[in-house]
Order: sequence, then structure tokens, then C-alpha cells
Amino acid sequence: MGTFYVTTPIYYVNDLPHIGHIFTTVVADTLARYRRLAGDDVRFLTGTDEHGQKIERAAEREGLRPIELADRVVARYHELWRLFGISHDDFVRTTQERHERAVPAILRRMEAAGDIYLAKHEGWYCSGCETFYTEKELAQPGNRCPDHGTPTEWKSEENLFFRLSRYERPLLELYRSQPEFVRPETRLNEIRAFVEGGLKDLSISRFGLDWGVPFPDHPGHSVWVWLDALTNYVSALGFGAPAAERGSYERYWEGGDVRLHLVGKDIVRFHAVFWPAFLMSAGLPLPSTVWAHGWWLRDDKKMSKSVGNVVRPDHLVERFGPDPLRYFLLREMVFGQDASFSDEAFVDRYNSDLANDLGNTASRLVTLSRSAFDGRTPPTPCDDNPLIGIAREVVAEYRAAMEALAFQGALRALWRLLAEANQYLVARAPWKRLKSEGASEGVSRVLWNGLESVRIVATGLLPFMPGLAPRVLAGIGADAAPASLDALGWGGLPAGVPLAALEPLFPRIDKEKFMSEIPTGEPPGAPAAPRAAAAVTTPAPARPEGSAERIDIAQFGTVDLRVGRVLACENLPKSEKLLKLMVDLGEERPRQILAGIAKAYRPEELIGTQVVVVANLAPAKLMGQESQGMVLAATDPEGQPILLRPHRDGALPGGKVR
Ligand code: MSP
Repeated sequence: MGTFYVTTPIYYVNDLPHIGHIFTTVVADTLARYRRLAGDDVRFLTGTDEHGQKIERAAEREGLRPIELADRVVARYHELWRLFGISHDDFVRTTQERHERAVPAILRRMEAAGDIYLAKHEGWYCSGCETFYTEKELAQPGNRCPDHGTPTEWKSEENLFFRLSRYERPLLELYRSQPEFVRPETRLNEIRAFVEGGLKDLSISRFGLDWGVPFPDHPGHSVWVWLDALTNYVSALGFGAPAAERGSYERYWEGGDVRLHLVGKDIVRFHAVFWPAFLMSAGLPLPSTVWAHGWWLRDDKKMSKSVGNVVRPDHLVERFGPDPLRYFLLREMVFGQDASFSDEAFVDRYNSDLANDLGNTASRLVTLSRSAFDGRTPPTPCDDNPLIGIAREVVAEYRAAMEALAFQGALRALWRLLAEANQYLVARAPWKRLKSEGASEGVSRVLWNGLESVRIVATGLLPFMPGLAPRVLAGIGADAAPASLDALGWGGLPAGVPLAALEPLFPRIDKEKFMSEIPTGEPPGAPAAPRAAAAVTTPAPARPEGSAERIDIAQFGTVDLRVGRVLACENLPKSEKLLKLMVDLGEERPRQILAGIAKAYRPEELIGTQVVVVANLAPAKLMGQESQGMVLAATDPEGQPILLRPHRDGALPGGKVR
């Protein structure tokens, strides 16, 4: 048994959690649950990153003190992690005393190593990243942040610097001798190339920023938020605490076997260059691996609050509980690469894998066994059949994939066993044999083999679906909470034990109905903004001048708004909300546009009228029909849409709205 320390990034509190945050945390949770079953002594940490200008400004916009904003968002995180069954051992906040005392403790060690000095610093500063950029790194035109695309500000101040340049060679040596330090390999190559390009000393303080950890011995300076934030991985364990409270630090960090940071690819540089350099300077052990996953994209773009394309899958969780979404996220993304989120893909995956492959197989087997064997599991187990060898291979594949964080591979392996079990059942047709030979020993063996395969699959699913997998196991008469991965071995299903009728665990989703019920006024999969937001924040007041979240005229210009005339309009069959409009935008052909306005407008009152259309929106499918744009509408106090249109006739079809 070894120790296994796994961390998520700590999340900023200027935004509500979205699918990107949920993803990393679900990955960490799945891994933690797996390692516990594998017998490791696991420590799983998550938390929030609460200092810095970005948070200070977000709080200001809401008329709150930064800590009030943080408290609200943290409450939402706690609620969400409870809902998702996240089994973290600790939740760290950078505003906690245990953290705020650890930051000066690490700085003092870096200072003692001669790595900190005071100097003037000038450069282009992005408050979103809390980072200075060189002219070369900026996106042009307008000196924009290369990550956020928002304008940077020129800043000149006296700062404390860290001698990062000293660590160029030791870092390259680290990547050479320990290539597993950065995973996957593509990220290691990027990081190595970055360091080979030369490391400049790093500014690690900000002057005049109130909302941060004061820099020791330098009044007026506070610690750069990234140094502050990265320290969470050791502060939460007790680094910097009195000896009596340092036990976890000594166990999981100093003397630990695995220290794994899971991060998104956008923050790998902070974790794989700066953080190990800080630790080397302070003379502390390094993490064993920084594992960078890809992004969840929406329409091939990174989700971001400023772009307004963030997915908060509240509606999916409300309807199906957290486990199908956990499954989807880990099944759909090749860990390390980007993946695209859509409601349609979710429904397809749910129906085929969970409702059909897993749910139907389990319920068919339970029904047959109950009717054949008097409400019990089959009385005669079987230790000689082709499924045994396949199960052994599948379990080996599953375990290897889990060790390599290849979650998709692990799930595919389990589904191979399900597919093989189904083929085996079809070939032996126990339902027919039951009729011809009754509850024979042969029928018992076949059904037992089928159920045993489902048991192994559901046991493998325990880390992925901690709510539903135990219910599948209990439903087939098996141990719902096995103590170890030994339960993946063939032969665990008890013979002849009582079997209740299986509750429907994965009811099939009627796709068309579901797609038509997604909150309208936004693309499928987007958050029900007011509902999601109401849980934590009040509507933001008008944004102050210079806010990082404003867009400029060029960004606005990327949205192609046009006047269109409705040529035809009808209700969409089977949908209460959708109208199908044919809109003339002065193009060769009218556009088909679906709008969720059927409760407020009758088709005939729209024909001949003008509307405003987002003309360059990527087409989306709703109830099997393509929508080639979106009409703009406001909302009345009852939540009913009110169409926006020019106040008098005269605009040309296709005329631009500016
Ligand atoms: N506070 C820093 C992390 C400090 S760790 C010492 C931060 N916070 S964040 O809230 O902006 O992002 C946290 C994590 O969420 C990052 O790993 C980021 O990559 C991840 N994601 C944010 N959007 C994402 C997607 N669209 N898809 C997948 N993960 C993404 O950065």
C-alpha cells in the first residue's frame, strides 16, 4: 500500500462552477475512488483560489467585499461537490489562516536560498491572468492578452523578483530524468521547448493590491496570486504549521509515494515550470506528475465567461442526477485531448451505453432469473465458459487504463465485456431454453454467467458512478460496496440469493422531447442563466469603466446581426415551444430558423413581419430540424419572449444591425 495524493486546481471564485471545473474534479474523484479500492492511502484535495485583482474587481461589480463573494461561491462549490458525490478529504481556501501562514513560510525559504530581490518591473499586464506579458507574446492588434483576447494594461512598478533563470538547467534536467513529470508527452515537449527558449526572472509581488497575502518584510507589496495559489498544495497538508499539525504534510508530501496534480492545459506552465522552481528553491520535494487535460469546447471554442459560451449542465443534473454526466464526461474525452460538449451527444451516449447496453442487459437478466429461479439469482454458478477468459482480459485492460489515467479506455474495456456477454446470451438464448427445458442447470449457468459479467462491469464502474453502480450491484444480488479491486475477479456473484425486481436505473430518454425542452433563448446545452445564477449571485450591476469583461467594438462586430422578413411560419409538430420560421435575409434562399416562442406568438401573426437574426451562428439541430440562426427576443416578467424588430418598416431584408 502506498500513499496517493491527488489535487485539482483551486478554482477562482469570480465565476460559478462550470463543466470544465466539474470535469477536473470528477476525474480526481474517480481516480481517488479507484486508488482507494486498489488499497492506497489516498488524500484528495480541492479548493478555491480567492485572492487577487480579478476577484477584487468581480466583488466590486457585485457591490460585495471580496470575502463575501468568495463565501457565496464557495457555498456553491460545496453544494455542487456534494451533489456530484465528490469524495475529497479536504477543501482548501487561500483565505484560510493555515494557507496564509504557509505562503510566507515558503517565501522565507526561497529568500534564504538567495532567490528573491527587488527591482523595477514594466510590462503589459492582464488582470485576467494576473500576469505580465512581453510585447512579443501579446495578441495584435490592440496589445491583447494571448489567452483572454482582452486588452492588457501597461504597468510599471517596483516588484520582488524570483531568480527563475537559475532554474533553467535544473528544470531541463528534471524533464530529462523524469519524463513522467509532465503528462501527456505533448505537454512535456511544449514545456521543455518553453524552458529551452530561456527563462527570465519572475515578478512575484504586486504593489498596492489589498486583496492578497502581504509579502513578508515588504510593506505595500502582496504576494503574486499564482505563487500564493500554488502553495495550496502544501499548505493544506500542514506545511508552515507547528510541528504537531504537520503530519499530513510529512506523510503525503515529504514522504509520499505519488503526488499528482491534475490541471487543465492552460495552466500547465504554472505547474510544470514555476511551481517546481519555487519548490527547488525552497528545498522541498517536487510533485511526481503534473497531468494536463484538454479543454471542453463549445462549437470548437474554449468556453469562457467573457465569450458567453459556458456550459453549466444544471438541466442534465436536475433530470438525470450526476452519474450519467460523470460517465459522459469521462467516456467522451480522450484524457489529454480536447472534446466538444453537446446535449445531443449526451443523450446519444446515455441511451446507447447506459439505457441500452447496461440497463437493458441487467434488467433482462434479473427478470429471467427471477422468473426461472423463484425470485433468486441462479443456483448454479459456472467456472468454465468463454466469458471467463474475456473478463480476465478486460479487467487487465481496465486496470492498466486506470493506472494510465486513460478513463475512456477503461470504460471501453468494460463495455467490451458487456457486448461479449450479450452475444453469449443471444447465442445461448436462455429465454428459449427456459421454455423448452425449464429451470435447468444449463439455464442457471448461462444466466449466472450473464449476471456475473454485469457484476464485473458494475464493479469497474464504482469509481465512475458512485451513486448508480452500487444500485446496479445491489439490484443483481451482488456486493454493492466491495472493499477492494479483488472484486473484479470472476466468481463473485452469490448463487441462489433473493433478487428483487430491478428498479429502472437508466430510463431511456426521448431525444426529441428532451431537445425541445432545453431552456430556450440560448443554444442547446447552455446554462439556464437566471436559474443557475440565482443559486449564488445577484444579477451583476452595470459594469464599471475599464472592466476586463467588456468587449470592444471589434468583438461586437464578430456577431452578424441582420434584419429578416418572416416569409412562412408554422408550429413544429410535437413541440409546445418551437416555431419554425422561414426568414428572408436577402440571400439566395430563405433561412429555416427555429425559435422557442410558440407560447407567446401564433404563426400567422408573424408572417410578413420583420425580426432581428443572428446570422452567423453555427447551425444547431433541434428536434431533428436544423436551425440556421437565431431570432432575438427580450423576456417579459412572466418569462414569455417578446420579439425584437425594427420600430418601423423600411429596413432591407438582410440589412445589417449595428
Ligand atoms: N485558480 C487557477 C488555478 C490555480 S491552481 C494553483 C485557475 N482557476 S480556474 O477556475 O480558472 O480554472 C481551474 C481549472 O479549470 C483549470 O485547470 C482550467 O484548465 C479548468 N478549466 C476551465 N475551463 C475549462 C474547460 N472549458 N474545459 C476543461 N477544463 C477547463 O486557473
